[in-house]
Amino acid sequence: MAASFQTNLIIILLALLLSSSATIAQELDVAEPLSLGREKLTRFRLYLHEVFDGRNATVVYAAVGNATNLVFGTISVLNDILALGPEPGSKVVGRAQALGAIASQTQPALTMIMNFVFTDGKFNGSVLTIAGRNNLNLKVRELPIVGGNGAFRFARGYVRTSTIFINSVNKVGVVEYNVSVLHY
Ligand SMILES: *[C@@H]1O[C@H](CO)[C@@H](O)[C@H](O)[C@H]1NC(C)=O
Ligand SMILES: *[C@@H]1O[C@H](CO)[C@@H](O)[C@H](O)[C@H]1NC(C)=O
Ligand SMILES: *[C@@H]1O[C@H](CO)[C@@H](O)[C@H](O)[C@H]1NC(C)=O
Ligand SMILES: *[C@@H]1O[C@H](CO)[C@@H](O)[C@H](O)[C@H]1NC(C)=O
Repeated sequence: MAASFQTNLIIILLALLLSSSATIAQELDVAEPLSLGREKLTRFRLYLHEVFDGRNATVVYAAVGNATNLVFGTISVLNDILALGPEPGSKVVGRAQALGAIASQTQPALTMIMNFVFTDGKFNGSVLTIAGRNNLNLKVRELPIVGGNGAFRFARGYVRTSTIFINSVNKVGVVEYNVSVLHY
């Protein structure tokens, strides 16, 4: 009886110790002041320029599948150019870095996570993160914006995306992204 009382006491003391140290660890406001302005809606359009094959390829396929054989389990990794226009030579504002997997047996539907990494323009230094389902069978696909850093801290919103063209001879393609993002 006494032993069990002692054990309980030790557990309670340990719990108190852990919870008080957890509270201290959560107090970030002194070390990192954060003042949020007004949340605003920003809308812009960007184009991903992709090279499917060759020395300058911006997409690689791991495990099964390839660009023309998007079977269940195909895993792709992208580092596409992010540009203001669909034409070659359009002003580049960053890179679209993504990991995607075809996670459907019946449709070429990607489960993907993508970062728009801005290295120029208004959002230089910031990253916008998109995650969702991208069913390539659809002309227009909609994916959620799940966050970001820099200008896109606390970001939420959605993108609407459509493939503008795929040139299977030159192995290049351009994909349009209309971004609607709420951020501070
Ligand atoms: C790859 O990119 C380099 C540098 O931009 C360019 O000179 C070369 O022609 C490209 N190669 C191919 C196969 O497109
Ligand atoms: C893609 O995969 C298919 C089926 O395995 C194959 O026939 C084709 O040659 C591959 N294409 C490329 C570009 O590797
Ligand atoms: C973008 O930001 C980086 C890092 O802050 C800076 O070095 C670079 O000069 C900027 N580029 C432009 C085009 O503003
Ligand atoms: C993006 O916006 C433009 C201009 O409003 C529109 O013409 C285009 O169809 C939109 N694209 C997508 C994928 O929603």
